[in-house]
Amino acid sequence: MTATRRTLIAGNWKMNGKSADGVALATAVAEKMKSGGSVPFDMLVSPPFTLISKVYDAIKGSGVLLGGQDCHTGVSGANTGDISAEMLKDLGCDAVIVGHSERRTDHNESSELVAAKASAAHGAGLIAIICIGETEAERDAGKTLDVNGAQVAGSVPAGSTAKNTVIAYEPVWAIGTGRTPTNDEVQEVHAFIRAELAKKVGADEAGAMRILYGGSMKPGNAKDLIALKDVDGGLIGGASLNADDFWAIGEASK
Ligand code: 13P
Repeated sequence: MTATRRTLIAGNWKMNGKSADGVALATAVAEKMKSGGSVPFDMLVSPPFTLISKVYDAIKGSGVLLGGQDCHTGVSGANTGDISAEMLKDLGCDAVIVGHSERRTDHNESSELVAAKASAAHGAGLIAIICIGETEAERDAGKTLDVNGAQVAGSVPAGSTAKNTVIAYEPVWAIGTGRTPTNDEVQEVHAFIRAELAKKVGADEAGAMRILYGGSMKPGNAKDLIALKDVDGGLIGGASLNADDFWAIGEASK
């Protein structure tokens, strides 16, 4: 975290929430944001697509940002079941997550496709939150930096800037497991990612671009993680489903 990059606390609800509990969660987060006064961090929630309109209404005027969890590469067309970045924008979204490891694994998404989705997000005026991260086998094989370097090179499209792009480093083996890399390991990968970003977008944009850590971030470990020099917030799964825990992560980042 540095004073020049505003901390972003982003919640990825994944495939969780129906109308009543989704609205209750969003309302609780919005209430905390409103009563929190002027906080030194941005807060974003990414509900499943089915809840975006309801969550939009629940958080309106609170300053909480809204994101989708995926988008198609196109604007519109014969793509049954898909959602375009333009559609997310039309619903009031500010951002969209692309390239989450669950999509890379479950839907065979390549870095090339992720870059095209990020480009589509940019075209629609959305912030692309581009996820990267190594598997446990890759880490054990000593390939962590290689894998993340290749994912930065392949997933960050031309035209990416610090304003329209956020990177989320999520070690796959840390997601939902309660395990995290050590703080030194996290800082090492984040600094490396920033250096690789500089090759793609230039040193100034890379220096200003936010790089979030994701993977078992909780109120108890958020302070130390977000205090790391090149960690600019968190992409939070499980703990974002509880408004108190999610807010506590924001508070811990101060
Ligand atoms: P957890 O916080 O549940 O480990 O999930 C992290 C994640 O995948 C956010 O995108």
